[in-house]
Amino acid sequence: MKAGVKMELRVEGEGVESYEEVMLIYGAALKQIQTKLQILNEEFQHVHNYNPIEHIKARVKTPESIVKKLKRHGYESTLSNMVKYCNDIAGIRVICDYTTDIYKIADMISNQSDIKILAIKDYIATPKPSGYKSYHMIVSVPVYLSDRIVDTKVEIQIRTIAMDFWASLEHKIQYKFTRDVPQNIAEELLECAMIVSDLDEKMLQLNNEIQEIRD
Ligand code: GTP
Ligand code: MG
Repeated sequence: MKAGVKMELRVEGEGVESYEEVMLIYGAALKQIQTKLQILNEEFQHVHNYNPIEHIKARVKTPESIVKKLKRHGYESTLSNMVKYCNDIAGIRVICDYTTDIYKIADMISNQSDIKILAIKDYIATPKPSGYKSYHMIVSVPVYLSDRIVDTKVEIQIRTIAMDFWASLEHKIQYKFTRDVPQNIAEELLECAMIVSDLDEKMLQLNNEIQEIRD
């Protein structure tokens, strides 16, 4: 294949050959997005004197979770199915202070010309029935290899510290049950999600007041 030729991550023909190669490419995509976010955060600090990003977590999905997810969706565990149907093999979580930061970060990502936005799920505007809130983007970023460029999918989850607190604990609680969480616990968790949203709202108002005093 000619150098510089763009291709989708695929298994057949001259595409991706092994699981190790696929994972290497996802790892590279993750590093690229992480670096882009760090640069944006530093530049924001320089220009506006504050950091929209509190911290970033990045992970590559384990083979066990990939197989489990494919099975759940009724697909065979093949490399091509994993590349095609698993959008979160490379996953990055961006945690910020305020809800307003989330949209700033999402805009900054969208404005990067080498990043393609494949899908957006705004669970802040429309929370999940569980109460889950977060802003999800599936993007693709070009990974430059020695002989080709591979467009690679990355899932970006952007949420506030408060949303992350709720999601982490709720996830752990869900794991304690092999079946659905009992109705009463699900209701309590939903109530907790609402308390967390109120807290986010109050902290944002407080921050706005502080900004006015300082300006
Ligand atoms: P998955 O197959 O689970 O990846 O879901 P999906 O492909 O329908 O995408 P969705 O955007 O709904 O969820 C993607 C990810 O968001 C999940 O893997 C979780 O990390 C997170 N998530 C979604 N819903 C919930 C929830 O109710 N509670 C928690 N704690 N996390 C959630
Ligand atoms: Mg997932």
